[in-house]
Amino acid sequence: NIDVCFSPELLHLYDLKGKAVVAVDILRATSTMVTAFAEGAANIFPVMELEECRAFAGQGCLTAAERNGIKAEGFDLGNSPFGYMGGNVKGRNIAITTTNGTRAIRMSEEAKEIVIGAFLNLQAVADHLAELGLDVLVVCAGWKGQFNLEDTLFAGALAERLQDTFSSESDSTLAASYLYQTAKTDIVSFLRQSSHVRRLEHLEIHKDIEFCLRHDVYDVLPVWRHDRLLDLRFK
Ligand code: MLT
Repeated sequence: NIDVCFSPELLHLYDLKGKAVVAVDILRATSTMVTAFAEGAANIFPVMELEECRAFAGQGCLTAAERNGIKAEGFDLGNSPFGYMGGNVKGRNIAITTTNGTRAIRMSEEAKEIVIGAFLNLQAVADHLAELGLDVLVVCAGWKGQFNLEDTLFAGALAERLQDTFSSESDSTLAASYLYQTAKTDIVSFLRQSSHVRRLEHLEIHKDIEFCLRHDVYDVLPVWRHDRLLDLRFK
């Protein structure tokens, strides 16, 4: 079965035990993490608070922080996937905190498996879930507790990729699937009116938006192990 939780604030309604969670924050936290692994990052430590993140600098980690769409002051990196390209993260550990994405991950820790999902690694995630065979819950990061379109579209895309092996009985999954079917020929246009696209466009981050909506660019598979994310391809 594949189900969708539209916000980390709704997680108390779900039993995560024994399930595979796919944590998703398309714009931009999980797209950026997937890009970081594709660029050779070693481990990623997603944390909730800025101070916690800053403390990782002492352990030789790069630190990355975003609040309200903007890079937080005093950190090495922000939350744009393009900031992780060009060799600067290769072989490095990264601690990262973002407004919503890192919360979605850390609030899912009771699950049996947490996979980091993005359109960029959609097929790699689908293949891993099919192999695991566990019930799946897509946990959308949303925006400050509220529903968002882009994470919901990802849930619909994943449900489509898994339609032969997983049932989707909940109205959440059905809604996500219908939305994705409507949007999929031109997701960039479909999302033009969405709240976070408007927020980021205001910050002139058009190229981030287009990049994060591309499908199957990377085959990386970030999973949560103990206290960090690592790329399962190399373990
Ligand atoms: C988040 O975690 O809230 C987002 O990734 C925000 C952003 O676009 O940087």
